[in-house]
Amino acid sequence: KITPVLLSGGTGTRLWPLSREAYPKQFLPLFGQDTLLQQTARRVSDAALFNELLVIANVEHRFIIAEQLRAIGQDAARIVLEPAGRNTAAAAAAAAIIATRSDPDSLLLLMPADHCIDDIAAFHDTLAAGLRAAQDGSTVLFGITPTGPATGYGYIRMAGEAVDEPGARRVLAFKEKPDLETAESYIASGEYVWNSGIFLVSAQRLLDELDALEPELLRACTAAVEGALSDLDFLRLDAEAFAQARDVSLDYAVMEKTRNAVVVPARFSWSDIGTWSTLWEIGSKTAEGTVAEGNATAYDTQDCYFRSEGPLIAALGVRDLIVVATQDAVLVTTKGRDHDVRSLVESLKKTG
Ligand code: GDD
Ligand code: MG
Repeated sequence: KITPVLLSGGTGTRLWPLSREAYPKQFLPLFGQDTLLQQTARRVSDAALFNELLVIANVEHRFIIAEQLRAIGQDAARIVLEPAGRNTAAAAAAAAIIATRSDPDSLLLLMPADHCIDDIAAFHDTLAAGLRAAQDGSTVLFGITPTGPATGYGYIRMAGEAVDEPGARRVLAFKEKPDLETAESYIASGEYVWNSGIFLVSAQRLLDELDALEPELLRACTAAVEGALSDLDFLRLDAEAFAQARDVSLDYAVMEKTRNAVVVPARFSWSDIGTWSTLWEIGSKTAEGTVAEGNATAYDTQDCYFRSEGPLIAALGVRDLIVVATQDAVLVTTKGRDHDVRSLVESLKKTG
């Protein structure tokens, strides 16, 4: 069986003003009834395939997580708490150390908490296609067919030798977040797919890789787990030890360097819920292409995204606009600029 690990440390700044530090996007029902965390947990709830879920998240969010998992009947999840986020390499290391303690042969499925994947059966099929390679000691990545030269993703060169499963190949190269020019050349070559951000890997194998590539990070995480305190259903990592771990993502620390990765093309539709534009893309639209959610009405507007949890948004005769309102803040931007919301939030913080 696979041990699912949910990485839930991000803050989702680009989805301000709905996503806030105290209540980031993964805890919001951005589409449908469930929050992103709940959707992700449900995806791996089949007890025939998966062990209990392991969640690794910031200590500030412990009660939100426990509550949201309880609401979908997943009270048995283990929740590991980071005193402060040290990025995904450290989070994955801590999860792998904890998993090998209860089962040295654990297979981990590392999953971001901010993806939209509709078809659970297709998701399970894709995992099954990577299972053997993961058991044999490869790190298995899932490839997404790119739709353009996006610079926010990892790129996988998928032109290596085929492995036994249909479509699966050895990874020839991995480049995390290339610049635009490089991304364009990758797309033009036709040899690259996007990294989905989901990894299937033997926990021991991941620890061996980290031991070779990031020995100090691994040492810090080992000490953080050794010094961890159990508190109710939570496991609190030792703050002093964990703070020593280098702040680096698993993509840069391991994926760009490993020689032992396999990529399986994803058979499911996938979307990284990073910006309001992505929510527009997957949202249900009027004939003119506008999405209006919550307290929002639109007349004669084209390709807009409106969403309000506060005052009524009434829009007329505009196009490509994004307006998102909460009780205390309103964001107004356009579809081409909303990837910059993070900078807007940074400057708001500075000016108070
Ligand atoms: N526990 C924990 N602690 N989780 C974290 C931390 C941390 O310090 N930092 C980030 N995470 C979680 C985020 O909440 C998210 O669910 C996941 O780890 C990935 O982090 P992101 O910050 O969203 O990464 P990214 O989107 O820039 O890039 C990754 O995902 C892309 C696909 O969406 C990479 O894996 C790319 O290669 C990939 O293409
Ligand atoms: Mg992401």
